[in-house]
Amino acid sequence: MIDFKEKVAELVAANINIKKEEVIPLIEIPPQEDLGDYALPCFQFARTLRKAPQLIAEELVAVINQGDYFAEVKNVGPYLNFFIKRELLAKTVLEAVLSAKDNFGSSRLGAGKNVVIDFSSPNIAKPFHVGHLRSTVIGNSLYRINQFLGYHCIGINHLGDWGTQFGKLIAAYQLWGNEQEIKAEPIPALLKLYVKFHQEAENNLELEEKGRQCFKRLEEGDHEAAKLWEWFVELSLTEFNKIYQLLNVHFDYNTGESFYNDKMDGIVQLLQEKKLLKKSEGAYVVDLDEYEMPPCLILKSDGATLYPTRDITAAIYRKENYHFAKALYVTDYSQNLHFAQWFKVIELLGFDWSDQLEHVPFGRVSTEEGALKTRKGNVIFLKDLLNKAIEKARKIIEENNSTLENKDEIAAMVGIGAVIFNDLSNSKIKDIVFNWERMLSFDGETGPYVQYTHARANSVLKKGQSQSRPLDDYSALTSDEAFAVLKLLYTFPATVRKAADRNEPFFITRQIVELAQAFNKFYHQYPILVDEVDLRESRLLLVLAVKTVLKTGLYLLGIQAPERM
Ligand code: ARG
Repeated sequence: MIDFKEKVAELVAANINIKKEEVIPLIEIPPQEDLGDYALPCFQFARTLRKAPQLIAEELVAVINQGDYFAEVKNVGPYLNFFIKRELLAKTVLEAVLSAKDNFGSSRLGAGKNVVIDFSSPNIAKPFHVGHLRSTVIGNSLYRINQFLGYHCIGINHLGDWGTQFGKLIAAYQLWGNEQEIKAEPIPALLKLYVKFHQEAENNLELEEKGRQCFKRLEEGDHEAAKLWEWFVELSLTEFNKIYQLLNVHFDYNTGESFYNDKMDGIVQLLQEKKLLKKSEGAYVVDLDEYEMPPCLILKSDGATLYPTRDITAAIYRKENYHFAKALYVTDYSQNLHFAQWFKVIELLGFDWSDQLEHVPFGRVSTEEGALKTRKGNVIFLKDLLNKAIEKARKIIEENNSTLENKDEIAAMVGIGAVIFNDLSNSKIKDIVFNWERMLSFDGETGPYVQYTHARANSVLKKGQSQSRPLDDYSALTSDEAFAVLKLLYTFPATVRKAADRNEPFFITRQIVELAQAFNKFYHQYPILVDEVDLRESRLLLVLAVKTVLKTGLYLLGIQAPERM
């Protein structure tokens, strides 16, 4: 595609004594349409040229020949405003979409580079809560976005499958467990056992000790303890997989914390050799006083390893095996300190790749009834939540379009899509609220709205039987409404790159909502299926491009785009 921004810079550079590369970063997108498509403030040139900015702007306008790319260049005070030739924008964008199709916006930017994405990572025998949903949804989207930009992605589900809590659970099971009950509803039953253990332990100190012993036995490979642990893992994974299936999410590795059990000795030794380990109240820690952080815990007084020990070991393992250029960790912001601490330890160990580790924190989730809690068994089970979304979508579809085929399949795409879209609708650090009505609404800034717009575009295309070929003449697509759509199509590739740069899928969410809105405006203003062939072909081509980009945008968020709704 023509890079109009670069053309602005070339025009300017050709007329004053400033390099193109220096002009590019100064170019702005004006806040209002009447100020053009690009604006160049001339303040920066005042010193070099020894002239007032306004004068520079005036002189430039007088000599600049708008040339092949711009319909008009004018100055408002010290600003130069550039107006793109609308036909040319239409030609460059639509022909680019026609030739790239579903790959429009993709690139080879990341070719040859690996990105590890550690996401979802729920805990065995505990409910998959809404925080894990966010991690899953954000991580999956980052996976797709990076892959679209040519990176080789490695998605890892770092399951919480090790730690002293498993000793407690084994102890609880041996005391009060009931196999039938657990088989019937694994996670609620296991959670109940775990909660009971904590309640009883409050007045029974021996219980804690029993839990510790069970964990010790597990670590030593005791047959019975190991069998129970494996069973808990298997039951939990079966449950988690139901959620992944609903969400259409896959991992390259399901290597949980326990995967690193036999790899931690070496790391503890390395920490010792580098003289980083310090004894503190019987435990071993890395002192981070100097960096204004509490110490990073490596070994408990009984020699047991901890969450940070496993993360440090895992990072080194991943660097050695996956040679990542970047490793992302997607969790809520309550773990900010944890990541800052152990990233520091990696740096102190002398690994020069410590700056390739990136925590991608996100905000908490609440429902309108209040925060979603895990403690005391007061939880919303995610599977139920997703099924509720599907059920609601199904009802809405029934009301709107009762003759639709594959209603169940489409209800799943819409219900799940609504949840994902809602999750990715704001900067990820913001806390989000679940509101069913808003989430599933067919208008407003929602997943169903974008999906519906896509389906509508698709049905017009089917009826119109477009040739899907470049046009000889794009003059039929120069209205304000068409131009607004074209600009959003044009900036889509840059938006995808920005989303990857900042680990923010929501830039894509915003862009496709705006695109759907702009398209619907166009659609209401201009009938597509008119008799006049050239006019119809022009409009159909725009519809095709919109459909393509909406579909790609939804795909990058992890959402399916039904052809009919
Ligand atoms: N299992 C953890 C939790 O539920 C999240 C793990 C995130 N990944 C990591 N490498 N620490 O809080």
